[in-house]
Amino acid sequence: MPFKKNFLWGGATAANQCEGGYSEGGRGPANVDMAPWGEDRQSVITGRMKMLEFDDHHFYPAKNAIDMYHHYKEDIRMFGEMGFKVYRMSIAWSRIFPKGDETEPNEEGLSFYENVFRECHRYGIEPLVTITHFDCPIHLIKEYGSWRNRKMIKFYERLCRTLFRRYKGMVRYWLTFNEINMIFHAPFMGAGLCFEEGEDEWKVKYQSAHHELVASALATKIAHEEDPENKVGCMLAAGNYYPYSCRPEDMWEAICCDRNNYFFIDVQSRGAYPAYALKKMEREGTMPHMEPGDAELLKNNTVDFVSFSYYTSRCASAKPELHENTRGNLIPTVKNPYLESTDWGWQIDPLGLRITLNALYDRYQKPLFVVENGLGAVDQPVEGPDGELTVEDDYRIDYLRKHIQAMRDAVTEDGVDLMGYTTWGPIDLVSAGTGEMRKRYGFIYVDRDDQGKGTLKRYRKKSFWWYKRVIESNGECLD
Ligand code: BG6
Repeated sequence: MPFKKNFLWGGATAANQCEGGYSEGGRGPANVDMAPWGEDRQSVITGRMKMLEFDDHHFYPAKNAIDMYHHYKEDIRMFGEMGFKVYRMSIAWSRIFPKGDETEPNEEGLSFYENVFRECHRYGIEPLVTITHFDCPIHLIKEYGSWRNRKMIKFYERLCRTLFRRYKGMVRYWLTFNEINMIFHAPFMGAGLCFEEGEDEWKVKYQSAHHELVASALATKIAHEEDPENKVGCMLAAGNYYPYSCRPEDMWEAICCDRNNYFFIDVQSRGAYPAYALKKMEREGTMPHMEPGDAELLKNNTVDFVSFSYYTSRCASAKPELHENTRGNLIPTVKNPYLESTDWGWQIDPLGLRITLNALYDRYQKPLFVVENGLGAVDQPVEGPDGELTVEDDYRIDYLRKHIQAMRDAVTEDGVDLMGYTTWGPIDLVSAGTGEMRKRYGFIYVDRDDQGKGTLKRYRKKSFWWYKRVIESNGECLD
């Protein structure tokens, strides 16, 4: 058998991309609600265009998303039908603390997630909870400037303590920050950061990253104190860099680009700032202010496992201006001439997943968890033999099959210790990068379009049945 007996197969979502119910149950507004659909999205998520209130000219897809807030029972039942062992989901911070700096949590928010966890356990599904998947209450941005302010550590600590206590025995797997390295690439969406004219953006980003890293170590500490059964992971938007050529300068560039991402996980997993990062921050004048006790906290509270998203590998050149560029998960890269691309320009590279798994395992020697992987594509619903709508998504099956095969090679041939695999978007949801619905990842089709129109009815795609067989056979049967 290629994978462990208790291998965690499942799917991953984020509150802001599926829940909706943005003003229900006492929930407060958050940065992720304010990312509009359309051409301004990019400026908003990168913090260049300030959007801290809804306006009348934009459509905000996260407000209602796929309304999982009201459909969660039906959706989790379908995950159960596929045989999920794990469901990765996130908590909307502003459901628990609507403003973020209250001392008492919002009971309605807490009981909503309690019901979600109960529903998971009904089907034998283990919840894997991302404490923050990009979200930050708007009040914390307006009042404190979000993660640039050290006070955020206290607010986050309160959130974590509340969650660990309330869900003790119901949740064992936690991730502190989704794709923590996104703070560099999409600082408003990733960490609630907006920039003022003339401000040194990189200084703010590194200071904010330091606060998140300290908060993450503190969360890990509290999780272990509250319940020794808790397992805490870090989460990286991964995908190793290849040098564009064997020119030493290209190779060096690839190493530097990889380090930009490793930087976070090096701290969370090894417990200290790596030498290359200290030198870089010193050189560039971006060294964050650190308080006494920070280094010790980081050292003593490293994560139990390393999780990551993988959609594509990346490519680096010392002369990027000479090559075509392409987008990939909010991180632009030089286009690799050997790879095909999705309709959104993300390059498809299953072997890159094996390479990434090996690189991370060599570097950290901790169990790994692939918590996001999938294909965003346009689906054409057709009528199935039973009269219900379905999608013949062989392209999605093909993508996932090849990536699972690569993962299998990393485990069986290379000896990588892998805990589980959750595909991104087991049910269609709003795209983080573009705000679109038409960029679909799911095994379950949701009738909703980019303008928010549709019945919200759910339909099983062909991949639904395929993934069910994959799980049943513990990854043995990929046909
Ligand atoms: C990851 C995020 O970056 O990629 C998800 O953690 C996101 O939130 C996923 O949805 C896919 O990206 P996109 O832009 O296609 O939604």
